[in-house]
Amino acid sequence: MAPTVQDAQRSVGTREYFDEVEQRKYFIEPHIPGFAQFERWRGKEVLEIGCGIGTDSCNFVRNGANLSVVELSTESLSITTKRLELYGLKANLINGNAEKLDQLLPPEQKFDLIYSFGVIHHTPRPRMVIDAIAKRLKPQGELRLMLYARVSWKVLWIYLRYIWFEPWNWRRLPAKYSEAQIGSPVSYVYSFQEARELLQSFTIVEMRKDHLFPYRIPDYVQYRYVKNWYFRWMPQAWFRWLEHKLGWHLLIVAELPEKGSPETGD
Ligand SMILES: C[S@@+](CC[C@H](N)C(=O)[O-])C[C@H]1O[C@@H](n2cnc3c(N)ncnc32)[C@H](O)[C@@H]1O
Repeated sequence: MAPTVQDAQRSVGTREYFDEVEQRKYFIEPHIPGFAQFERWRGKEVLEIGCGIGTDSCNFVRNGANLSVVELSTESLSITTKRLELYGLKANLINGNAEKLDQLLPPEQKFDLIYSFGVIHHTPRPRMVIDAIAKRLKPQGELRLMLYARVSWKVLWIYLRYIWFEPWNWRRLPAKYSEAQIGSPVSYVYSFQEARELLQSFTIVEMRKDHLFPYRIPDYVQYRYVKNWYFRWMPQAWFRWLEHKLGWHLLIVAELPEKGSPETGD
């Protein structure tokens, strides 16, 4: 999903490298800038949970947000630190587990936006993170969250391919085979209903699916973008429809209940 340190052809840590990582990330996941709405948070307090190597972090800061980041991995955080420095950007980077968010932030600090893209489904206790977020959002604040979608093309393929070999392990198959790299201790997937239950202390403003990966993996790792045959001939409108129905990314916008907006999506 997210770009990794192997995801560019240039020397790791150079501007060219990070530029290429960003270009590739938003080419593969073009829905991210629209979902994050980077330019909307100028002068606002933004908390990003789980920055990875900091592609979205840079764009929040570039667009004028006062960014704080909580990231579990020291390695990812040091890459993000270097990346921000390279571009002359500043953020408050905190190494720690978002399940213990309260201990990582000053007592009264609250945010206009809490953004977490592809992170909370990788932590063993997502509810702890969600509860902590609820305490750290300003009354008019917004939570923008991406969780992996249970009813998705990717999960359907995983079942079709692997259920025959380990049917007893069916619950764990999505977690086991969904990540490009081994190493995530957990990967939960969420239906709309499960996401609503996780976010029961919030008002959900928007919930929708997006993102199918159409490319052949052997070509993709060689920086060639060759679509699988069944996507190659599919009209773009059908592909977008399929992304809406079976996308891997469950995109959620939520607010504290007092603000009271209606829910949309299916
Ligand atoms: C799949 S990456 C996504 C990174 C980034 N948001 C992106 O879209 O590229 C997940 C990141 O979340 C971090 N992470 C996972 N669990 C976390 C937790 N409990 N607290 C803080 N960060 C966490 C991981 O270290 C990793 O950098």
